[in-house]
Order: sequence, then structure tokens, then C-alpha cells
Amino acid sequence: MYLITKKEELTENIYWMDVCAPRVAKSAKPGQFLIVKAGEKGERIPLTICDYDKEQGTVSIVFQTLGDSTKKIAALNEGEYLHDFVGPLGNPSELVFEDPEELRKKKILFVAGGVGTAPVYPQIKFLHDLGVDVDVVLGTKSKTTLILEDKMKGACTNLYVCTDDGSYGFKGMVTDRVKALVENEGKTYDLCVAIGPMIMMKFVSKLTKELGIHTIVSLNPIMVDGTGMCGACRVTIDGKVKFACVDGPEFDGHLIDFDEAMRRQAMYKTVEGKKAILQEN
Ligand code: FES
Repeated sequence: MYLITKKEELTENIYWMDVCAPRVAKSAKPGQFLIVKAGEKGERIPLTICDYDKEQGTVSIVFQTLGDSTKKIAALNEGEYLHDFVGPLGNPSELVFEDPEELRKKKILFVAGGVGTAPVYPQIKFLHDLGVDVDVVLGTKSKTTLILEDKMKGACTNLYVCTDDGSYGFKGMVTDRVKALVENEGKTYDLCVAIGPMIMMKFVSKLTKELGIHTIVSLNPIMVDGTGMCGACRVTIDGKVKFACVDGPEFDGHLIDFDEAMRRQAMYKTVEGKKAILQEN
């Protein structure tokens, strides 16, 4: 059982939780995820690690309530317990393995969409601690749905917020802002890391391919059980079959068949589609 030491509603239906899990905190790295279960019979939910404190032995998760299982997690309060908190799982971000000296020479751009801001945060914090400069383009629907702005500001060189409705920052898509940074404001980048909805990662990857910027995306959004068993996260990368939860979650955005991945994601939402995917595996 894992004690919830802090719970905060960041915006409507998006929650931050600190959970006491010293062993997970000790080995957690940016880019990895956890399997969380509210109760003994609860559904297994894969959630990316948003932060960790090795001294305190706590791990932070940020999640959106989209179905019954995430609502059950959100119903728990400080002082209560999560039944399962298994991890860290998946491969850490490739940035973790790079030589810090080499990283400091690179110009890195992160693009975060909606609740995808949460998995971006530990990566930029990790780079910030190494003295690496990063720019972040953060997209959200409106000012009221923006999360973690102060934390992001504190860990990056420049934060560019975009809102769909123009209520804060730049009005428009993250891709428009990235294009403007490169084409109008003279920015150059060696690497882009994009994490957010599949459709956003698809179009960011399309743009960065045109701009010649190597791009990494995280396929967390298509994971269901996070164990390599359900088949929901099967993707084709450069013509080869991979599973996001086992082989990823990060992949080269220019090599992913996004249309196929999004079709499977949509299929998994229906009972028939789920059966077809399970039979296929
Ligand atoms: Fe089920 Fe990867 S999430 S196989």
C-alpha cells in the first residue's frame, strides 16, 4: 500500500499526487512510467512519472480523470493509500544516457500538449540540473486548462505558451508557434521532444521533418495495461512492429506510422475493437 502524501487539483479533472514509494523514487528516471491501481480490484492504469524526490522517497504523478479507474484514484485523499504503484517501467529518455558536455552544446526544444506537460517536466528539470538550456512550447485549450506553468518556467530557458482560444499567450497551435520560432525568430534546434496527444505529436513530427530537426515522441497516450499483454500499444516504427510499453515509450517521431497507431487507439475504445486487437496478439 502506498501513502498519498499530497493531492492537488491543478485544473478541472487534472490532479497532482505525491506518493510515498521510496524504492520507485530511488530508481526513477525521466521518461519512465508506473502502473497504478486505486484498489485491489481496480484497473491497472499506466501513468508517467512527473517528478520524484529520492531524499523524501516520494514520486509525483499527474493524471486526468477520463474513466472510472482514474476517477477512483482521484477520489482518494492525502493520508489514504493506493493499492499498487509499480515501477519505474519503460525505458528512460535517451537524454539520460547522453554525455552532459555534449548535451550542453545542443539546442533542445520540448513541445508539450495538455496533460503531456507532466511527462515533459522531469525531462526539462533533469536537463536544467545539468545546466542544459531548453526552450518549451506548451499548448493547451485555454488559460484555465494550463498546468505546471511556474514549475516549467523555473526549469527552462524560454517558455512559449499557446492557447487554442487565445486567452493566454500565443493564439493557435503549437506547430504554428514552432514554425514562427524557427522561420521568423531565427531559432535553431538540434533536437525536439514532443509529448502530448497523438494528433499533436503527428503534426509536430511532420513539421520538424520539414525543418530537419531530429524528433523524439512519447507514445504513453496509446498504452492501456502497460505490460506488453493487451496489444493496444502496438505501433509500426520504420516498418517494424514495436510495443510502446515494452520497447518505448519514446521513439523517433519521423519513423512512426501515426495513422495506424491512432486507428488502433480508436478501435480499442470499442468492445469489438478491443476483442479484435486481443485476438490479433
Ligand atoms: Fe498493452 Fe502495451 S499497453 S501491450
